Amino acid sequence: MSRLAVVSCSLNPNSRSRNLASRAHELLKARGADVDWLDLADMPLPLCDGGAAYGDANAKVVKERLRVARGILLATPIYNYDGSAAAKNLIEMTGRDVWTDTVAGFLCAAGGQGSYMSVMALASSLMLDFRTIIIPRFVYATGKDFDGGTITGADVLDRIEGLTKELLRFTSGLYPA
Ligand SMILES: Cc1cc2nc3c(=O)[nH]c(=O)nc-3n(C[C@H](O)[C@H](O)[C@H](O)COP(=O)(O)O)c2cc1C
Repeated sequence: MSRLAVVSCSLNPNSRSRNLASRAHELLKARGADVDWLDLADMPLPLCDGGAAYGDANAKVVKERLRVARGILLATPIYNYDGSAAAKNLIEMTGRDVWTDTVAGFLCAAGGQGSYMSVMALASSLMLDFRTIIIPRFVYATGKDFDGGTITGADVLDRIEGLTKELLRFTSGLYPA
């Protein structure tokens, strides 16, 4: 089975997208996947400057851990009709060595339903820049899908399960061991 990774791209200690990521990670582990967990709040990356930032110690660790993953789920807040700056910075800091020949999926936490297409900017950039295979099944949750740190929205729980199944299906079909 291909190695996988789930990355939480919120820097907020009370993040809802981190809860989505955590649920996806649990489900993948329960299915026997070899799945890494990365939380950018615990692994701060410098802002990409196209140069010296690539030499940062955390940047090297994150890149190597993601480089060996054939499927990556990015969990991101929606900020200003886009993924978080931390998510975009992660992509800038890792580049084609991570994202080419890789399957990617998204779990988003937002304030309202109106921003549901916002993740497409990240998805398109991965697709066009690196030919990343994007799973056309996103998780999109708002505050009403949570009770504190618990995910209560039945549809969101179903969607997380669907996304994890698709990640396994895409990676095992495209990159059989
Ligand atoms: C700077 C900022 C910008 C935001 N922009 C949007 C937005 O464009 N659309 C939206 O639906 N929610 C927006 N929100 C609400 C967040 O998406 C929401 O709080 C979400 O839970 C954040 O993810 P997190 O809990 O994983 O950190 C914004 C919040 C902040 C702090």
